[in-house]
Amino acid sequence: MKNVLSRILILLSSIVFFSLSSPVNADSGTASPSGAESTVQEEASSGSAKGAGSDDEIESEASREINYIRESLQLPKRKNVLVAYFSRVGENPGVGVITKGNTRIVAEEIAKQTRGTLFEIRTVKDYPESYEACLALAKKEQAKQLRPELAENIDITPFDEIYLGSPVWNEDMPMAVYTFLEGHDFNGKVIRPFNTHEGSGDAGFVDKIRGAAKNAVVKPIFSVRGGMAQYESFKLPFAVKTWRTAESIRQSEALISNFK
Ligand SMILES: Cc1cc2nc3c(=O)[nH]c(=O)nc-3n(C[C@H](O)[C@H](O)[C@H](O)COP(=O)(O)O)c2cc1C
Repeated sequence: MKNVLSRILILLSSIVFFSLSSPVNADSGTASPSGAESTVQEEASSGSAKGAGSDDEIESEASREINYIRESLQLPKRKNVLVAYFSRVGENPGVGVITKGNTRIVAEEIAKQTRGTLFEIRTVKDYPESYEACLALAKKEQAKQLRPELAENIDITPFDEIYLGSPVWNEDMPMAVYTFLEGHDFNGKVIRPFNTHEGSGDAGFVDKIRGAAKNAVVKPIFSVRGGMAQYESFKLPFAVKTWRTAESIRQSEALISNFK
């Protein structure tokens, strides 16, 4: 009997204890198991109480973050770097008939590394696809020192660093490159030349550019075989980077221009 009474007492005191310690939700009248959980529930329900507006806020915050990361990864173009180049598609010695010019391939790699603006020096009149016909025309233009009209021009004022690319045509630059050089004021500009060739190397381009672009500071040239640009372009990123870095640490021009 005594045993039974003590059990009833324990049961009653437990009921009283739990009814006092469990807070009652004022709205629903239901008991929450603990204060801490009640707070989490309140936050959750207050969030859902705000409904779509709050979700929108979270979403726009997330998209702001994503845009920020995207912008940081897709680095903007560098406003002061121009990569101007002349390049021709068609038949070329050493590479056959090509659909993307050798010099253009190098220009694109430079633009990629420098985040510069690409500009193609194009003539109003296209050059022949056949190598022999093109060579004959190039020689004629050289003999007469013609300055073929360009299809498009660019204001170089905003650029202070200009990468200038050209193929070797009969030991010289195509006359259209002179049209470009003589048509602009290079005062205060730095020109970094590059060329592609099939054996002539730098072909004295640095001096030729110095003569045509008065007042420009002309840096050492990056000279590469057209065949390498065309068929071993995987070597270009390193070669271009070496040239640009070497130039900045003043290594010899010969070392760079003899790069094979
Ligand atoms: C008309 C013409 C003349 C060329 N003359 C020379 C030359 O004198 N020396 C040389 O090494 N390569 C010469 N080449 C080869 C080009 O310089 C070489 O193929 C170059 O990579 C072409 O560049 P592109 O594809 O950007 O036009 C000549 C090519 C052409 C079409």
